[in-house]
Amino acid sequence: METAVVPEVATKTIPIFVMGKKYEVPDTLTIMKALEYAGYQYIRGCGCRGGICGACATVYRKAGDYKIYTGLACQTVVEPEMYLAQIPFYPANRASYDFEEIEATPESIFKLYPELFRCVACNACSKVCPMDVEVLDYVSALKRGDIKAACEISFDCIQCGLCTSRCMGEMAQYHIAQLARRLYGGKLAPKAEHLQKMCDDIEGGAFDDELAKVKTLGVDDMKKIYTEREMEPAMSDESWKPASSVGLV
Ligand code: SF4
Ligand code: SF4
Ligand code: FES
Repeated sequence: METAVVPEVATKTIPIFVMGKKYEVPDTLTIMKALEYAGYQYIRGCGCRGGICGACATVYRKAGDYKIYTGLACQTVVEPEMYLAQIPFYPANRASYDFEEIEATPESIFKLYPELFRCVACNACSKVCPMDVEVLDYVSALKRGDIKAACEISFDCIQCGLCTSRCMGEMAQYHIAQLARRLYGGKLAPKAEHLQKMCDDIEGGAFDDELAKVKTLGVDDMKKIYTEREMEPAMSDESWKPASSVGLV
């Protein structure tokens, strides 16, 4: 197991309770780092450590506070007398379907996920979402058959499952929204013409010579090309063009 890293800046320690047991941890740590500091080892329930993968959903209460709080262990900083437990996985119904066969219609979603209509509009899902996704709003959009709106509202979902853990309607909101995004992205949204042209060019062999040339290079030459490549400046506008058009068609 890795040795816990204590922050360089001197800090005080605070008491937290993990599954009922008390630990003293530096007050600047995230829940994830505090758990490791306390001696726990992450084998599951931890992925990106950057607030993206949704693997580290955590529930906690604070001393003297009746409310249940939620957060991502890799993003939430510990607080004194926090009583916490991680829920790395929450069982959720995910329908089976053949994406090629399924029609991009609201009825397809209703058929696969009839529990959608069990929503009682309690809004518990939106309140726990660590990504501030308006879960009730995308569920309502799905019920109206507005796939595009559901896709847009749920765009920041990281599939952590916290909304499902609180749902009075017992549905897995995030799986339903994922189906909506797949249908919209794969079958309903207008195709990007420039992307289609690039795909056609690749399939037509426009870059075959360049690729063959790259394949003959050694590691050092590859690194040189990579580090010396021309890059678009961070603050450029749409008028920016590369000085060299080699490799472009
Ligand atoms: S919508 Fe649900 S699964 Fe997605 S990030 Fe929010 S709480 Fe997590
Ligand atoms: S928690 Fe479930 S029942 Fe409540 S608003 Fe969200 S989807 Fe509807
Ligand atoms: S470890 Fe990926 S979101 Fe926390």
